[in-house]
Order: sequence, then C-alpha cells, then structure tokens
Amino acid sequence: MTAATPLVHTRSAVAEFTIRDVIEGQTAGQLIVAADDWGWWATLLGGNTIVPTTGIQQAVAVGLVRAGFLVRRNHSYHLTHTGHDVGKNRGFVRCAVRGWEPTFRKLSEAALDEFIPAATEPGEVARACTDIARRRPEIFAGIGAAIAADETPGCTIDLGCADSGRVQALAAIAPHERFLGVDIEAEVIDEATTVLAGLGLTDRVTLLAGSVQPEAEPPAWLARVDRDSVTTAMSFFLLHQLASDGAGIAAVLRGWMEWFPNVRRLVIGDGYLLEADQWTQQPWFSPTYEIYHTITGVQLWTQQEYEAAFAELGWSVTRRMEDHTMLVTTVLERG
Ligand SMILES: C[S@@+](CC[C@H](N)C(=O)[O-])C[C@H]1O[C@@H](n2cnc3c(N)ncnc32)[C@H](O)[C@@H]1O
Repeated sequence: MTAATPLVHTRSAVAEFTIRDVIEGQTAGQLIVAADDWGWWATLLGGNTIVPTTGIQQAVAVGLVRAGFLVRRNHSYHLTHTGHDVGKNRGFVRCAVRGWEPTFRKLSEAALDEFIPAATEPGEVARACTDIARRRPEIFAGIGAAIAADETPGCTIDLGCADSGRVQALAAIAPHERFLGVDIEAEVIDEATTVLAGLGLTDRVTLLAGSVQPEAEPPAWLARVDRDSVTTAMSFFLLHQLASDGAGIAAVLRGWMEWFPNVRRLVIGDGYLLEADQWTQQPWFSPTYEIYHTITGVQLWTQQEYEAAFAELGWSVTRRMEDHTMLVTTVLERG
C-alpha cells in the first residue's frame, strides 16, 4: 500500500497576485480614469468634495468608496489617505489603462512575433506623462531655478515635449527664457499650440512637429530653429527609446550636441531598468514599464549605462532627482 502523496502548496516568500487583485484592479483602474476625466481628482486634491449628480456618477463614487479611495459624508465624497495617493499618481493609471492598452491588447495575436510595434493612444500618453510630472513640483522648481539663474537667458528645448506640460510649468518659473518643444505627434502638438495661445505664451514658446531622432539627414524642423540660441536641452522619458532604435544613449546625445553647438545644460528624465523575478518585488509601475518595453522591443537602460554615456561626452551631473525609485531626472553641465 502506498501512502497518498499530500498536495503541497508551496508559499513563496514574496506576496503574489490573487485573482481578486487582477479583476478588481482592472475595474478600479477604469473608475480612476473616468473620475479623472470628470475632474474629480483635481477637485478632491484641491481640498474640495464631489457631489455625484447622476446614476453613473453615483455608481463610480460608490465603487471608489468600496475600493477605499473615497469616504462619503452626507451627499458628498472626500478623499481617504489611499485615495490621496491614487489621485496624486493617477497619471500612471491613465498610462497603463488607456495609453498602453492598445499595445497590450495586441499580445493576443502576437504569439509568434518577435515584438509588437507600440500602438499607443498618443493623447492619453501625453496627458499621463504630464500628470506624472506634475506630482513632483519640486523637480520643476529645481530645473526652473537652474535655468532662471543663468546670467543671460537662453532658449530651452524639450525634445519629445508631448502636450508641452513641462514647458508650460518651466515657462512660469523662468520668465525670461524662451522655449521650444518638438514632438513627433502632430495632432498632440496642434492641440498643445492652441492651449499655449490661450495662456498667452506663444511669444516665448514655440512648438514644432517632427522627429528628434538624430539621423544621417537632419530633420526638416531643425531648419526653422535658431540652433545657436539653444542653451539647455531637455528630454523626458524618450531617450531610452531613441537610444534603442538608434545606436545607444551616447549616439543620441552626440547628435543633439551637434544640432545645438552652444548647449551648456542637459536635463534628462528617464526610467531606469530595475529587474526582479517576482512582479511584487519591484516598486509599483516598474514591472508594467518593463513588460511594456520588453514586448515592444524598446530597450531599457540601467543607471550605469546612462551615467557612462554622460561621462563619455564630458557631461557632469550637477543634480539628480529621484522620483518613484525608477524615474530619475538628471541635470548635467559640461564638465
Ligand atoms: C513617454 S512620452 C514622454 C512625454 C514627455 N516628454 C513627458 O515626459 O512628459 C514620449 C513622447 O515622445 C514622443 N516621441 C516618440 N518618438 C519620437 C521621436 N522620434 N521624435 C520626437 N518625439 C517622439 C511621443 O509622441 C511622446 O509624446
């Protein structure tokens, strides 16, 4: 007679996802983005309450209460501590739920493909990135203060500027600086230009559509720019992609340095590669960021790889501002 082998459930030392996390997390993400589109998070973070006026709004509010993000008092809703955290970080939710969803959806038909070309919702990614950036006003303040302290005001270019959210914030901090923003998504640039006109910023800020990837032939937009006037070159959350499509980080930076011979400051924000076997061992968003880039074939780079490229080209780090563990903004000057 053989003893029955007991069923052994091995418990891993790290937390694992449950089926509940998967299903309810997806629904919570949809509710968070809808509430953002209705302006709820901005209202709540501004210290005000929200009062749902329709059945749909009521259902979303109740869902957000059940998730632990809101609390109801009489007919109005307030933020909980977790709700505050969610509201502040809603850009990450928008990026995953709306911005990158078309790419993740394509996985189903891509089992035999090497990569899935990124199919994003550009307007959603732009808004998500600007919302992510706005969480940390002290990072803008640090960059803006460095620009505003220049003896002679110059021109700051944002390479891959999306909806120009960062340029708008910096223009307010450095009132004598001129700004240029360039992005490959013409529609996003058109909409942002309309917004800038409404803000009365078009005399100091110019947005252009085109690619900022250095190639053998310079891009057409460069002919419309006073290249010698550019003194600060910034790029946020794009260098990793250009470096992986091209010949690495140093090659892209070298191309920009050739375009703008008088550039004396670089501001580079990007996500660093942090790897771990278990999803839950990494800070939130890092696994999503890593998986999204792995399936699109866009390489992510480590801190050491960024810093080796900076040093190779003679740039010294003057400030390093870490945001959410993996998102790092580095201010560099020619050493
Ligand atoms: C992840 S988003 C970052 C947006 C913005 N820099 C920020 O951090 O808020 C990347 C941006 O780069 C733009 N982009 C992608 N490839 C580009 C290229 N070759 N030239 C210019 N812009 C590009 C996208 O349209 C998108 O707006």
